Amino acid sequence: MVASIIILSIREIIMIKINSFSSFFVANWKLNGDFKFIDQFLDNLQVPSDNSKCIVICPTSTYLDYIRHKKNNFYVGAQNVSEHEKGAYTGEISCNALSDLNIDFCILGHSERRQLFNETSTDVSLKSSKVIEFKIVPIVCIGETLEEKENGKTNNILSQQLEDSIPVSSNSDNTIIAYEPVWAIGTGLTPTLEEINKTHQFIKNHNTKFENFKVLYGGSVNANNANEIVSLSNVDGALIGGASLNYDDFTKIIKD
Ligand code: PGA
Repeated sequence: MVASIIILSIREIIMIKINSFSSFFVANWKLNGDFKFIDQFLDNLQVPSDNSKCIVICPTSTYLDYIRHKKNNFYVGAQNVSEHEKGAYTGEISCNALSDLNIDFCILGHSERRQLFNETSTDVSLKSSKVIEFKIVPIVCIGETLEEKENGKTNNILSQQLEDSIPVSSNSDNTIIAYEPVWAIGTGLTPTLEEINKTHQFIKNHNTKFENFKVLYGGSVNANNANEIVSLSNVDGALIGGASLNYDDFTKIIKD
């Protein structure tokens, strides 16, 4: 009994070794899915036996516990968390609660959170440093709007978001960055392969701190374009919304 308690507490405080993976495929289910959907999805999903790929499924928070009991060569991530540990914050979910469920990843600063729920980069930074304290890997999203892109401001916007959203405690062992152009999310539009690779290079070169960070691309990744995007030299994986809701498409994305 004592031994098992010790083993449990050791397991809980260990963070995933993100640098042991060559690529990441993160399914962002957003506000979709129910028990029936999850059962069907997991019954049909074929996860590659290749352990160098890290597959992460991020359901809505009420299904985190259900899905983590069905883990089979994949990890589970949350889509958001509170920057507060506890207290009078009705409707929020704490890092402690995620840690109790052994959740390994947490998407933070998604453009939908920034735009629809007024999250600022400062909020994202506070949340990121909090999840790191709880040994959960933040997947910090940054990206420019169409207007910003058209005005040639992409790099300025990304610089500012990187400076303000990534906390001091972040390093390449405990934090992942996701570049998601806002105009590419759910639209079927993507930057060219060259643009994606260049922007990822810009992020990695932004300051020496980010040099070895894993940088994922997100925005209209699908079964047809995932392979060529993830094969780019500066791309370490993908954050997938719409196409991650279809088990055939997601299987193809993670298999290629
Ligand atoms: P999409 O969404 O793949 O449907 O464009 C990506 C995301 O929002 O993370």
